[in-house]
Amino acid sequence: MARALVAGDKGLLAMDESTPTCNKRFAAAGIPQTEEARRSYRELIVTTPGLGECINGAILYDETIHQTTRDGIPFIKILSDAGIIPGIKVDIGAKEMAGHPGEKITEGLDGLRGRLQEYFRIGTRFAKWRAVIALSDGIPSRGCIEANAQALARYAVLCQECGIVPVVEPEVLMDGEHSLQRCQDTTEEVLRSVFRQLSSQGVLLEGMILKPNMVVPGLKCVQQETAEKIAAATITCLLRTVPAAVPGVAFLSGGQSGALASTRLNAMNVSSNLFRSGPPWALAFSFARAIQQPALEIWRCQEANTVAAQKALYHRADCNRAARRGDYGAAMEAT
Ligand code: 13P
Repeated sequence: MARALVAGDKGLLAMDESTPTCNKRFAAAGIPQTEEARRSYRELIVTTPGLGECINGAILYDETIHQTTRDGIPFIKILSDAGIIPGIKVDIGAKEMAGHPGEKITEGLDGLRGRLQEYFRIGTRFAKWRAVIALSDGIPSRGCIEANAQALARYAVLCQECGIVPVVEPEVLMDGEHSLQRCQDTTEEVLRSVFRQLSSQGVLLEGMILKPNMVVPGLKCVQQETAEKIAAATITCLLRTVPAAVPGVAFLSGGQSGALASTRLNAMNVSSNLFRSGPPWALAFSFARAIQQPALEIWRCQEANTVAAQKALYHRADCNRAARRGDYGAAMEAT
């Protein structure tokens, strides 16, 4: 199952925004923040023609996974019929961490076994848990890195016990003025801690997917870098920290524009050929905003815009599919 999630040149679609996050995106686009608007938007996504050509698995949120199309067909069935494996976000959010100002700890372990068993019963075959690591003066602290890494590992082993593939997501945020090197150093430290904990908890590395941030300079860093430099820093960081037994790395987009995320993923897949025998894991994607944002802005909750929005969604998914092969370029954006 883990190999299937990163097979070929396809990737994952994260459509698992929690209700508050989804409402935030809707508010910014002038869309009403109602359950019906969220259902309708998720229907648009899962019924996008040809989505299964680019996407192996879609990550849903608890509200969405129980919803149906207007005609009453469960989203899980629509996805499965399109050859897309249904997944589920199971953390319940990153909360302020006690004793660690400016840092967060992800919650959701209590009762997780029961929730995973129920998700498996209804057809879910993989899950996601996101840890958030902020980068600033004096942070991240050891305490924050270790607590989040241990929670990720406890979540991952519970998933595997229930027959569900864990997507392990430690995200070093892009906010801040930090350099590319600082992001690389911090991401290395975080990934080392995560894999130490995964090993302590007995997680089967062959049966998981890593969902890391790309190694990038902070959004406010004066020295921005080329896609090639970002690719080299990211792959170097991963080669130092991620065991070869892991079948796939599926990057989050973290607030990069769609085109930038595709360009950088493409550079990684091109430049990975420069390393002696290529990296041992697939370099795939698990984007939310970098696939959905243009579609959301076109849709604006107007039925008449659905087809155009679905085309925009497909286009971004297709660009990322090309990026996995190293075939993406500016020409794809011109069409
Ligand atoms: P972004 O691609 O928008 O960062 O979202 C990925 C994700 O699933 C965050 O948990």
